Amino acid sequence: MTDTAPLARAFDIQAGACAAFGSPFSGALLAFAARDIEAGGVMAPVLAPWAGVSTRTLMEEAVPIRWLGAVHDLVLSGAAPDLAAAWPAPGRAVDADAAWRAARGAMISSPAPFAAFMSHEPQTNEVRRSACLLPGFLTVSAGTGLPLRLFEIGASAGLNQLWDRYHYDYGGAGTWGDAASPVRLEAAWTGVPPPLAGTVSVLSRAACDRKPVDLADPASRRRLKAYVWADQFDRLARLDAAIALGLAARTRPDAADAVTWTARCADPRRGAVTVLFHSVFWQYLPTDSQTALRQVIDDLGERAGPEAPFAWLRMEPMPRNLATVELRLTLWPGGEDRLLAHVHPHGASVDWDPPSAAA
Ligand SMILES: C[S@@+](CC[C@H](N)C(=O)[O-])C[C@H]1O[C@@H](n2cnc3c(N)ncnc32)[C@H](O)[C@@H]1O
Repeated sequence: MTDTAPLARAFDIQAGACAAFGSPFSGALLAFAARDIEAGGVMAPVLAPWAGVSTRTLMEEAVPIRWLGAVHDLVLSGAAPDLAAAWPAPGRAVDADAAWRAARGAMISSPAPFAAFMSHEPQTNEVRRSACLLPGFLTVSAGTGLPLRLFEIGASAGLNQLWDRYHYDYGGAGTWGDAASPVRLEAAWTGVPPPLAGTVSVLSRAACDRKPVDLADPASRRRLKAYVWADQFDRLARLDAAIALGLAARTRPDAADAVTWTARCADPRRGAVTVLFHSVFWQYLPTDSQTALRQVIDDLGERAGPEAPFAWLRMEPMPRNLATVELRLTLWPGGEDRLLAHVHPHGASVDWDPPSAAA
């Protein structure tokens, strides 16, 4: 008999993480699933591909997130009205118990959509991360006085490429951007006031992803939405608005590996600052790709000059502490590396110029 403890543990760990990151509904649903796994219930066939796998591997492969996404996707498909009736909706009291019972019924009556959805690795595109990247772009613009050539790697659907078309509100710390933008990003700000003054000019933008999400494909759009936690209505609304903007802008990252694409495309050019940026991407690279990409970036930095600077802006969890997310900027010529901020993983807050930045 297979030991179900690693699976139940993975679902419980994810339940705690969801609750801690503002989705009590997802936390409760995952906890119901964990108890079902322990009891050898309806989750067993859906999780059959991962039977006997360690908790660590289950978390690395984001199996609980895949399952949550599969349930949400079924709701979004319109094929499960009972589940949809029990699902969180604005103005309706959240009832995780009713949602679990409906999800359980759906897994019994039609397990195939769950298995199909869960065979993919999760892919998200978190628009509010632009609220963390923006002060970085403004720092580059102010520091160089040049227009920006943008290159994003690990861009998913490419929604954060459109950062200069969004409106930002940092509470009492200030606002930035097009006041009429349909994409409105709010983030808490602590630390010294943000560098929101001045204008920024974007000369060009390009992006790549190993598996870009095609916004023009309705199934891909639905999948992107399914990974957003169901009781986070503001995130869902932001994603909808950004998808509409992305569709209108025909945003479509190149399908390419970041290492070769960066080496091929992101050479510094005179008259502009070339900005290579990424968010929550580095950890998905194998170690040898990280080393190769770092070498490519250093080579591009070496080719930079005062009239053709090169900037590397990234919002990434610290390698040995994934819970702490840093916004860092390295600027060539010179290659000065600065910790600009500590930020929330989904972009809800920015702590600008944290104490260690002075070191
Ligand atoms: C967690 S998502 C983050 C997406 C986006 N940057 C954001 O912040 O919303 C990580 C992305 O990195 C992409 N990725 C992973 N390895 C890659 C590689 N070697 N080259 C290009 N993209 C890669 C994945 O396909 C995925 O879209």
